[in-house]
Amino acid sequence: MNEKVKILAIESSCDDTSAAIIEDGKVMSNVVSSQILHKQYGGVVPEVASRAHLVNIIPVVDEALRNANTDIEEIGVISFTRGPGLMGSLLVGVSFAKALALSLKIPMIEVNHMQGHISAIYSEENKPTFPFLCLTVSGGHTQIVLVSDFIDSKVIGETIDDAAGEAFDKIGKLLGLDYPAGPIIDKLAKDGNPRFAFPTPVVKNFDFSFSGLKTSVLYFLKKEIELNQDFVKENLNDICASVQNKIIAILIEKFQKAIKLYNVKSIAIAGGVSANSRLREEIKLLGAKMGCEVFIPKFEYCTDNAAMIGIASYHKYLNQDFVDQNIEPMSRYPLSK
Ligand code: KG4
Ligand code: ZN
Repeated sequence: MNEKVKILAIESSCDDTSAAIIEDGKVMSNVVSSQILHKQYGGVVPEVASRAHLVNIIPVVDEALRNANTDIEEIGVISFTRGPGLMGSLLVGVSFAKALALSLKIPMIEVNHMQGHISAIYSEENKPTFPFLCLTVSGGHTQIVLVSDFIDSKVIGETIDDAAGEAFDKIGKLLGLDYPAGPIIDKLAKDGNPRFAFPTPVVKNFDFSFSGLKTSVLYFLKKEIELNQDFVKENLNDICASVQNKIIAILIEKFQKAIKLYNVKSIAIAGGVSANSRLREEIKLLGAKMGCEVFIPKFEYCTDNAAMIGIASYHKYLNQDFVDQNIEPMSRYPLSK
């Protein structure tokens, strides 16, 4: 297979419309249009998201081509996120890719969004040694994945209820913070003292649970607000630091157990929550403690973006793993084969 190819990658699984140009496996451009209009609703509204994708997709693709100095005729392959995600959002990206592939007479590659998040790690020259363990933490998923090569992986543990990003967002909502609350909590926690204690959930094997934490924060706030109406305002930094610490402690504890059992030489984090400054620090400490090399995606490739989809699709391209026009999006799309 000729390794030289320009891929146009599309990501539209949730509330970010993104396009990227990947040339021979390298990211030439990556444009992300984040839909800020969901803020007013305190979370992503699926119908609003799909309509916004429809408006954004052509300008975003145009800009990605322009930034990469690439003419549309030079594109040899189109790749897209097939799932998991919101059906209405996925449909926009998948339909756009199918139409463009048909008109340009070029092949298509479908990508699992969670595989995309892991592939963000491969944007750097230095690549992990296979197999490695990846802690993928996003708004919809929290998984420990045993990655055996560029396209094969197996989920060995995942959340049984809320995802880690969802915990940040839902607890942020209780604190009156805007959606998505993860980056805001990250910022506020920097000036906070993690002095409030929350319980650690007991979950079997390498699975996680975050809904109990959300409930315990809810009751804790109720009790404190009864005593002092201004409790949240007066202690916001400390509450954020305490919540962030707890979420990260839960993640790190399970990940450490998995590293011990699987005895890997490389570990990684990926997904929106891997943008968290504290998690990025903690994973380095864990790597040092366990004798593993640590891989962390570039900050801009942590939250949803098409560059990661493009990188994943390049490896599928090398295997000639194409799909035809009958391909359909899948709102649920498990990672393990
Ligand atoms: O991967 P992503 O962009 O979308 C999904 O596939 O879900 O992840 C979005 C999630 C949101 O829950 C957001 O609050 C969280 O990532 N997030 C963060 C940070 N940046 C984004 N959580 C904690 N700290 C951050 N700095
Ligand atoms: Zn994502």
